[in-house]
Amino acid sequence: MKNKVTKSIQPIEKFNYEIIGSSKIITDCKNNALRIAKSDAPVLITGESGTGKELFANFIFKESKRNKKPFIQINCASLPESMIEAELFGHVKGAFTDAVSDRKGKFIAADTGTIFLDEICELPVQTQSRLLRVIERSLVDKLGSDTPYEIDVRIISATNKNIKEEIKKGNFREDLYYRLNVLSLHIPPLREHKTDIPELVKYFIENSRENRILDNDAINKLHLYYWPGNVRELKNYLKRLFITSKRQIIGENSIDIEINEENNFLPLKKAINKFKKKYIIDILSANNWNQSKTSDVLGIQRTYLSRLIKELEISEAPNGSLASSNSEAPIGSEATE
Ligand SMILES: Nc1ncnc2c1ncn2[C@@H]1O[C@H](COP(=O)(O)OP(=O)(O)OP(=O)(O)O)[C@@H](O)[C@H]1O
Ligand SMILES: [Mg+2]
Repeated sequence: MKNKVTKSIQPIEKFNYEIIGSSKIITDCKNNALRIAKSDAPVLITGESGTGKELFANFIFKESKRNKKPFIQINCASLPESMIEAELFGHVKGAFTDAVSDRKGKFIAADTGTIFLDEICELPVQTQSRLLRVIERSLVDKLGSDTPYEIDVRIISATNKNIKEEIKKGNFREDLYYRLNVLSLHIPPLREHKTDIPELVKYFIENSRENRILDNDAINKLHLYYWPGNVRELKNYLKRLFITSKRQIIGENSIDIEINEENNFLPLKKAINKFKKKYIIDILSANNWNQSKTSDVLGIQRTYLSRLIKELEISEAPNGSLASSNSEAPIGSEATE
């Protein structure tokens, strides 16, 4: 059985685990990951989608003393609820209708090694209870068997959800969270370490074996974008760019990322005005577009509100009442803001 388990070790490809970035954020993450790798305690990796959680999970495994042992990866979102327990914990022949033969299950396959439970928040609550028992006792009960199997498995889990919110909503067991989150590693979004963009671009170009260069203006343009899909989005964007642009040296004109107010950082003044506009519209609308009531709520003079409405180009009044009041001469002072 041990031989079979060893076979399930995933091949380590050179580039798979290379974590690119020399920003303080990525350097700190790598150092934390190295510290975490030296321990056997469960680790929970958090971060938005595409930030590199899976990459870091692989890195932790590779740097751990278990790196010659099995590394079993399972995406908790990829299996139907009915199959997940059999997949994780195994079953004996005849345990249920489709159980035509014995199945070892991922935990037993990972024995002496590491299991990576990706997208852990997608685990059904019932399976969470079972997982908790497995962790607490270091014993796995295959479905249909009453002989527990002792295991020694290091658990790495990851989620891009706000797990504390999931606990509050009753979707995730708090006691399991504490068991999984003995050590934690948070991977920040790309927008917080944009200084790594040039290195990442170089790395992705080298990996794609494209003989291309992005000039400085093109790189600068990439810095303006918000990158909601993080490093994965950058990687995929470059793939598309190399298909759509045939130039060897790619300039800013070829960077067609739409840099609009929704996906980009704004200068502070613009951001404040954007907030002011939305806030005033919300209050106007809550007060049936009555400016006197709205200015009371905002704690400003009505004349000042009137001026703000004009300046911020607020004209959404459904019944036209606002439009008429806009014509008032904006008198009054820079009242309290
Ligand atoms: N620092 C980095 N250096 C090199 N490649 C990176 C880096 N961060 C992420 N990547 C690459 O970006 C892609 C997405 O990373 P990964 O799959 O690890 O993200 P994730 O956080 O697990 O995302 P999700 O939550 O959507 O599963 C992968 O191809 C990965 O190799
Ligand atoms: Mg992932």
